[in-house]
Amino acid sequence: MANNTLIFAHRGSAGTHPENTMEAFIAAFQAGANGIELDVQLSKDLVPIIIHDESLERTTNGTGLVKDFTLEELQKLDAGSWFDPSFSTATIPTLEELLEWILTTPLILNIELKNGLVRYEGIEKIVLELIEKFDLLDRVIISSFNHYSLVEVRKLNSRVETAILFMEGIYEPWNYARSIGAQGLHCFLPVAVPELIMGASKAQMPVRPFTVNEDAHIVSLIKGGCSAIITDWPEKAVKIRGSI
Ligand code: G3P
Ligand code: MG
Repeated sequence: MANNTLIFAHRGSAGTHPENTMEAFIAAFQAGANGIELDVQLSKDLVPIIIHDESLERTTNGTGLVKDFTLEELQKLDAGSWFDPSFSTATIPTLEELLEWILTTPLILNIELKNGLVRYEGIEKIVLELIEKFDLLDRVIISSFNHYSLVEVRKLNSRVETAILFMEGIYEPWNYARSIGAQGLHCFLPVAVPELIMGASKAQMPVRPFTVNEDAHIVSLIKGGCSAIITDWPEKAVKIRGSI
């Protein structure tokens, strides 16, 4: 049976490559993903960069908070060896570098604004200006757990698509999402129950659960009609989708 579920690579192909590096994004593209998800924060000198944690320890050889270092300092870090020594040349990408590369691909881009534990004043405007500069508004989805940020994004540019990130069972989240001007639901996998998927479908709102890594979950969400799944294993997910 043909299906239309898109495969978004979570932090790139994070199962096979160091997350949120160009290596992981290129691997996701080569694996046949339709889109990539990535996490954006700001350096001390207010440059948008791609990294998940607010602190450097887990995915780089640095220590301390991302926000306390300039771009120049951050770019000297090794962002690959923690995953495997063969990736020792991987670095923290800038959003600009990623957007330049995205233009050479047809990928959909899901930019997650990390603006919770550490508040990055003005991140919405800085990121939007970059998307506009590269003329990528039509294939970008901005998501965040910080829904105030999503409202701000839409105030700045009402053309950009936004999606709420959420972990809990919000009742009829499509109504809530619409009330803040958002167009999509990016929910934690356990929250993606059939009532939610069917209700969202009736309300014509896309559902893109994260992080969908197990075969059985990939199958059931594709069969259930999710608009997309966000996975660390895009190559596997693309294969499974092809077999359904
Ligand atoms: O955007 C989906 C997912 O990435 C949200 O959680 O912590 O992996 O950024 P996290
Ligand atoms: Mg994320």
